[in-house]
Order: sequence, then C-alpha cells, then structure tokens
Amino acid sequence: MDIIKVKDHEELNSVAAKIVIEKVKKNPNATIGFATGGTPLGTYKKMIEDHRQNKTSYRNIRSFNLDEYVGLTPENPNSYRFYMEKNLFSHIDIQKSNIHFPDGTKIDLERECTNYETSIKRFGGIDLQILGIGRNGHIGFNEPGTPFDSQTHIVELTPSTRQANARYFMSINDVPTHALTMGIATILKSKEILLLAFGEEKTEAIHRLMTGDIDEKFPASVLQKHPKVTIVADSKALSEVIASA
Ligand code: GLP
Repeated sequence: MDIIKVKDHEELNSVAAKIVIEKVKKNPNATIGFATGGTPLGTYKKMIEDHRQNKTSYRNIRSFNLDEYVGLTPENPNSYRFYMEKNLFSHIDIQKSNIHFPDGTKIDLERECTNYETSIKRFGGIDLQILGIGRNGHIGFNEPGTPFDSQTHIVELTPSTRQANARYFMSINDVPTHALTMGIATILKSKEILLLAFGEEKTEAIHRLMTGDIDEKFPASVLQKHPKVTIVADSKALSEVIASA
C-alpha cells in the first residue's frame, strides 16, 4: 500500500486529481471507477479545472460508478447518477454512452446486478477505482459482513450508514433502505485503487484498514490483499496509524 499524507483537503484534491489525470493521459481509453460522497468532490472540481485549462480529454474513457440507491431515478437530486452529472460528468467531455451505473429503478434488480458485472468484464475490468471509506469500514455500499467474494449485489443499508447519509436528504425517512453496489470481489479486481480519506471521523477506519485483521466484519481491510492501492489521506485520518507506527 502506498500512503500519501497531505496537509489539508486542498492538497488531497490536487494529489488525487493528478493521479486520475495522469492515468487518463497515459491511457485515454481507461475504465475509471468513480465514487460519490463528500470526500471526492474536490478531486472532481480539480479535474474539471484541469479539463478547462489543459484540455485533458475524457472522450474515450469509460466510467463505472460503485453504487446507486434503490428506487431513485437519475433525475432525483439524491441519486448518485445526479451527483456525478452535477459534480463531474456534465463539465467534462465524457460521452454519455460510456457512463455506467447500476440502475436501482429496474424491476429485476438481481438481473441488473448480473448485467452490471458482465458489462464491467466486457470492457476489460476497471483500470483505476476511486474509493472513499465509510466510518464502519464500508467501501461502495459493502457493509460489514459482506462476503469478500461478493459481486455486484443488492444491500440493505445499516442504520449508521443511513444516518451518515441523511445529511443529503430532507429527513432520515427519505434515505433509501437499499442500494446496489459493486461487490468486494468486483472492487478487488480493479487493476489499481485510489482511496481518499479526510478528517478525524475517518481515523479509526483508516487505522483498521491498514493495520487491522483482514476480516469481513471490516470490509475495507480486504484492501490489504490488493497489489496496488494508494491511500491519500490527511494527518487527522492517519493519526492513529502514525501513533502506532
Ligand atoms: C457513501 C458511499 C461511499 C462513500 C461513503 C463515505 O456511503 N456509498 O462510496 O465512500 O459514503 O462518504 P463521505 O466521503 O461523504 O464520508
């Protein structure tokens, strides 16, 4: 695991954006796995700035998002599809037909999960997967207890995850109870992983990710098995790792 310690959110955004931009420049046909949440927002802003200034092109890249809520349409401002359009896709030159999401509005969700998995494979897998981390160690929406061999699947969100994400909704009752997410095995198959973490609310999670037992009770711990993970985090998120080193 490579650790890049940054001093603040601004630096995290620049460092992370640079990694993604370099990847796209090196391979203009790259398949990138995108994450949502608060953490990568600034990274996407930097990518937009760079696209405007330096004309980095995303025309031929393919995107696969990690997860989506069940029941929210792309027009719903709380859907992850809406988030990605608003915060990145509508500002760069990615082609609409190259954007992929698990569709949480399909009647047959099981089939949708299988199709999503097949579609990732058809494009040769994910070259670079961007990840955030939940306080309970979830990656994507893989909650504690998710089997390490899981593929894209339907999950019931834990009360703590619904609570953490309630800030984006009118009330906790509006937060969907289920989501579709790439599985742990899907994420692990990515050729490279870039995990971003910021602030003291992630301290414990980063500590367990890096030094804890590899255990399904803490999904992110599986990343210890991946050959190419880069963690970009600030000193607060890394404080326990530094203290126990
Ligand atoms: C959500 C997303 C995750 C994300 C996590 C942390 O649950 N499904 O992909 O990593 O939140 O979000 P934040 O970056 O806002 O802390």
